[in-house]
Amino acid sequence: MPPQTDIQHNPTCLLLPGIVPSYRTELGMMVQGKSEEVIQTAEFEKLRGKVQLIFTSPPFPLNRKKKYGNLQGEEYLNWIASFAPKWKELLTPTGSIVIELGNAWEQGSPVMSTLALETLIKFKQKGRLKLCQQFIAYNPARLPSPAEWVTVQRIRVKDSYTNVWWMSPTAKPKANNRNVLTEYSDAMKHLLKTGAYNSGKRPSEFAINETSFLNDNGGAIPGNVLRVANTRGTDEYLRYCAEHNLPLHPARMAYELPEFFIKFLTDPGDLVLDPFGGSNTTGATAERLGRQWISVELDEDYIAGSMGRFSDKLVEIDDSRTTSCALIGAVTR
Ligand SMILES: C[S@@+](CC[C@H](N)C(=O)[O-])C[C@H]1O[C@@H](n2cnc3c(N)ncnc32)[C@H](O)[C@@H]1O
Repeated sequence: MPPQTDIQHNPTCLLLPGIVPSYRTELGMMVQGKSEEVIQTAEFEKLRGKVQLIFTSPPFPLNRKKKYGNLQGEEYLNWIASFAPKWKELLTPTGSIVIELGNAWEQGSPVMSTLALETLIKFKQKGRLKLCQQFIAYNPARLPSPAEWVTVQRIRVKDSYTNVWWMSPTAKPKANNRNVLTEYSDAMKHLLKTGAYNSGKRPSEFAINETSFLNDNGGAIPGNVLRVANTRGTDEYLRYCAEHNLPLHPARMAYELPEFFIKFLTDPGDLVLDPFGGSNTTGATAERLGRQWISVELDEDYIAGSMGRFSDKLVEIDDSRTTSCALIGAVTR
């Protein structure tokens, strides 16, 4: 019998006996399979109550089918919502689920679909979850789309954000905004330096006293519009895919997005799960931040490419502790 590893107490050795990952590191593992099937396995049952954060960007409800054959309409909505109860069971009592969903448009018409929002609402209802906060992930560098309405007919502006919903079974999941402070504005830096500003009553009737804003708290509390650009921190991944003739993931997210939520909602050593891992931006970010991680992904090419995010972090899979052996490096071309 393989030893039963308590992942909460052994952060340097994440193992799920019986699960053969495609690759692993000291902190995490990538598992190939259909998410809906993988999370039903007895092995995944062992994760019940241990996942601090489920962070994921599910396949989007597209009109045009991508390589991984997205479902559409009502069928899509019900499929995503069906994950809610199961994911909830995996969470620690203070755990969170964060889902990023892009917008969809009606086919052949300059009209936005409400499917993304309906899906998030249905997911929340099905899991009896609370919406802790809604975020917008704004990408100023996004290419103009939908092209027909934005660049050809010029009757719409760029669709440049995705919806990010932070949900939890509890109203007060683990969260600390001190971990995600941003740099003070120049005006605030000046104010902290000079110690002088206009106190008194604002037109809003809000009274500002003489010292309210004079504490240096190490940075500004961010808002819920997160500016992310899909351009930085992927050089290693791009190079690796080119060298191994592997396709780039078409919908990989900017690492700033998982980074924000992992820092905000987890501590080092906590476990982060991404059930739709893709190029494993989540796992790689969790690894960098010293969190344990598990990612699940269906497509073997995307998994193979995602190995490029880990380079020297990959460790050999010990077949004495799993049912069969998958050696690091085996998933290449
Ligand atoms: C939006 S992408 C995730 C991108 C990822 N966040 C990244 O940064 O690369 C969704 C992923 O879900 C995968 N997928 C689709 N259906 C799946 C399923 N049933 N189980 C597991 N993965 C699935 C797709 O292959 C795709 O890579």
